[in-house]
Amino acid sequence: MRELGIVTDGAVLCREGRVAWVGKTGEFTGPLPDDMTVLDGTGMVVLPGFVDSHTHAMFAGSREREFALRSEGATYQDIAGQGGGILSTVSQVRKASKRELKHSTSRYLTEMLRHGTTTAEIKSGYGLAMETEVTMLEALRELRDEELSGVVPTFLGAHALPPEFAGNLPGYVALLVERLLPYIARKNLAVFCDVFCEQGYFGLEEAETILSAAKVLGLKLKVHADELTSMGGAELAARLGAVSADHLEKISGRGVEALAEAGVVAGLLPGVSFSLNHGYAPARRLIDAGVPVAIASDFNPGSCMSFSMPLMMTIACTQMRMTPEEALTAATINGAAALGLSATHGSIEPGKQADMILASVPDYRFLAYHFGVNHVRSVIKNGTLLEL
Ligand code: NIG
Ligand code: FE
Repeated sequence: MRELGIVTDGAVLCREGRVAWVGKTGEFTGPLPDDMTVLDGTGMVVLPGFVDSHTHAMFAGSREREFALRSEGATYQDIAGQGGGILSTVSQVRKASKRELKHSTSRYLTEMLRHGTTTAEIKSGYGLAMETEVTMLEALRELRDEELSGVVPTFLGAHALPPEFAGNLPGYVALLVERLLPYIARKNLAVFCDVFCEQGYFGLEEAETILSAAKVLGLKLKVHADELTSMGGAELAARLGAVSADHLEKISGRGVEALAEAGVVAGLLPGVSFSLNHGYAPARRLIDAGVPVAIASDFNPGSCMSFSMPLMMTIACTQMRMTPEEALTAATINGAAALGLSATHGSIEPGKQADMILASVPDYRFLAYHFGVNHVRSVIKNGTLLEL
């Protein structure tokens, strides 16, 4: 994760949306097309676009009241227990139309592109009923086709127990497994299935039932694991062959070993620990154990109202003791790996999709070091220079 393959005085040639050549400018010998667009990056750094592998960027309403309550000492769990949290966003999303959901997410995607994120995973999980979950996933599919940004849709029907099923967890799990998952798989509405495996949400047993059903239907797996309590979510992710296990603030030593052995990506979310002030995932232990570590924003109205990947890198470096090189790897190629896209995304290599940013910084380390400002000057998606 510390080897970035930096090229000084470099150049990149893109053709038909892909990287055709990359190297030192003086070493390019091939012919150049006449109608080529040239972008001068003198004095800047060219980087792969960020791959934000974990977001909840489709929601309605906002929860600044909870932010204020936490500033006075309330915890995320206190607030959820008082009717706030995920369920308060669920009631807003259920009132919103597909058009409204698409519109607000589209604006966020544009703003994310401006901050260098060229691919974002987005989860459902604020509908928690057949109709609203499907509406969210259909909206995401439409955005994937219409937006400039890359969108990877994840089904997170197991985000919380909806009010209609209060006291009836098995009933809701049955709805997910028997009705929602088969429909979503048949209509090809999601690439991944995710579960919030946590005390008071979905236990290990429920998570296993839901994820196993999703796997049989051909969905790839992700798990919100070991965030608030050390439950063994990481071990479950390893056992089921999940692509990533995310959060991991409370992962156990056995969990670290399990991820390393199974080659599961650890999706760390520095912005959540920063926002909720509940401690950081053991990034060093994971990296030193050989686990591929990705960082993502988890952008959502409750636990992290930021989608800035450079800010996530800053927090990773200052609070989790990741080096700037590791943080950059975690925000690009390892983010792509967390989405099963590392063969095509996340680095500037011949044959890969030409997703790049030009940052007005003298050195790549400035991205994390000089925080709170947007250094991104140009964004290239699929080989096209975007006007944002
Ligand atoms: O990843 N942990 C569960 N879900 C989100 C929070 C969503 C919310 O609070 O609305 C998370 O932190
Ligand atoms: Fe999340």
